[in-house]
Amino acid sequence: MDNRRGLESTEKRVPKATFFFPPDFLWGTATSGHQVEGNNLNNDWWAWEQQRGRIQNDGRSGLACNWWENAEADLDRAAQLGNNAHRLSIEWSRVEPEPGRFDLDALSRYRQIIAAVRRRGMEPMVTLHHFTNPQWLAERGAWSRTTVVEAFVGYARRVAETVGDLVGLWIPINEPEVYVAMAYVEAKFPPGGGGFRVAMAAARNMLQAHAKVYHLIHDLCPGSAVGICHNLRIMEPKSKSLLDGWAARNLDHIYNDQFAQAVLTGRLRRPLGRGRIRGLAGTLDFYGLNYYTREMVNFSLAEPPPFFARRSFSPEAVMSDNRYGEIFPRGMFQAIKRAAAYRRPVYITANGLPDADDDQRPGFLITHLRQVWSAIQFNIPVKGYFHWSLVDNFEWDRGWVERFGLVGLDSTTQERTMRRSGELFGRICRAGRIDWEMVHEFAPETLDELFPQ
Ligand code: BGC
Repeated sequence: MDNRRGLESTEKRVPKATFFFPPDFLWGTATSGHQVEGNNLNNDWWAWEQQRGRIQNDGRSGLACNWWENAEADLDRAAQLGNNAHRLSIEWSRVEPEPGRFDLDALSRYRQIIAAVRRRGMEPMVTLHHFTNPQWLAERGAWSRTTVVEAFVGYARRVAETVGDLVGLWIPINEPEVYVAMAYVEAKFPPGGGGFRVAMAAARNMLQAHAKVYHLIHDLCPGSAVGICHNLRIMEPKSKSLLDGWAARNLDHIYNDQFAQAVLTGRLRRPLGRGRIRGLAGTLDFYGLNYYTREMVNFSLAEPPPFFARRSFSPEAVMSDNRYGEIFPRGMFQAIKRAAAYRRPVYITANGLPDADDDQRPGFLITHLRQVWSAIQFNIPVKGYFHWSLVDNFEWDRGWVERFGLVGLDSTTQERTMRRSGELFGRICRAGRIDWEMVHEFAPETLDELFPQ
C-alpha cells in the first residue's frame, strides 16, 4: 500500500524545468515621449485631444506620468525591477518647437534623462518618432509631404549630436505601418483621414526619412545599431474559403511585410509604390518586433480596396481589457520566426496588454516569454525583451481606459502602485530565467502549459 502511494506521488511530481535566458539578454520596458512626459503642448496630439469625441471618455494626456519633471522616479522603479535596458522616445516638438529653432533646454533635459537611464545600469534604446508631430509640421501636411524628410533629418541630427555618445541602439521611426493606417486610413490619429493613397505617400516619406537617418546616425555615432520597429499582427483567414484566404494573405503582406521588405531590399512593391529608394536597402541592423495579438480576416466587398478585408477576433479568443486584442502567446513565436527571416538580431521592442486588475498580465508575461525562450532555443538571435509598458500611460485614442503598466498610475494624484506582474517581471529580469516557483506563485493557471506532464 505504502509503496503504491509513493509511486503515485512520484508520478505526479512535476519536472521543475527552468527556462534560462542568455546572460547578455536585455531586459527592459518601453515608453514613448508623449505617452509619459506630460504637457506636450506643442504637438498635433495635444491639439487632437482637445477636440471632443476624439479620445475614449474624452481623455487627455495632461500631465501623463510627469516624466518631463521627474522621469527619474520611474527609472528608479525600472532599475528596481532588475532591468538592464530601457526604450524611450524623444519628442520632436520639444526639441524643435519652431521650424529650424532648437530648444537647448529641451535637448539638455533629454541628455539628463538618457544619462539617468545609463547611471541606473540600463542601456537606452532611443526612438526618434513615436506617432506625434510638432504642430508646425502638422500644419504643413506632416508626413504626406516630401519636405518632411529633410525636416526629420535636421531634427535627428540635433538629437544625435546631443546624446549620441550615450546611445547605442536607435529606432528612427516607431511602427510606420500603424502610424499611416491610424492617421490616414482609420482616422483615429491626427490628421484624421486622407485615404489610402495619402497613407502610401506618407509611408514612402517615412522610408526615405528612415534611410537618411540610418546613415546619419552611423556617420555621427559610429558603432551604434539602428533598427526598424515593426508591429506584427498574426492574421489568419476566418474560414477555409479561397476569398478569405486571399484577403488574409493580402492584408498580411501589406501590413506585416511591405515596409520591412522595402527596408531590406530598397525596392517598393505595390501598393506601397514602384521603383527604388536610394540608400534604403539594408538599412536595418536589427529588427525591432512589437507583438500583441492575432486577428481573423474575411473577404468583404463592403470594405475598401485594396484590402476588401474585415478584421475580427476568433470567437474562442481570450481577450484583454476593452477588447484590445486576443491573448495569443504562440503568435509571439510565429512573429519572431518571421522577423528572423530578415537575418538580423531581433529585439522584442514592445509586448503587453491592457489589464487594469492585473489578473491576466502575470500569465501573459510567462507564456509570451516562454515563446521568446523557445525561439532562442531554435538559435534565433533574440537579444532582448521590452515590455510595454513600465507604468500606465496615455494610450492614444483610448486615453486612460487601457492600463498597460507593470506599475499602476492614478493619473489624478500621480500615485503609483507596483502590480504583482511588476513583481514577477522583476523576479524574472533579476534571475534571467523563469522557474517553476515563479510560475507556481504568480500564474499557476499556466503550469500545465509550461510544464506538461
Ligand atoms: C505602440 C504604443 C502603444 C502600445 C499599446 C505600441 O506598439 O507603439 O504607443 O501604447 O502599442 O497599444
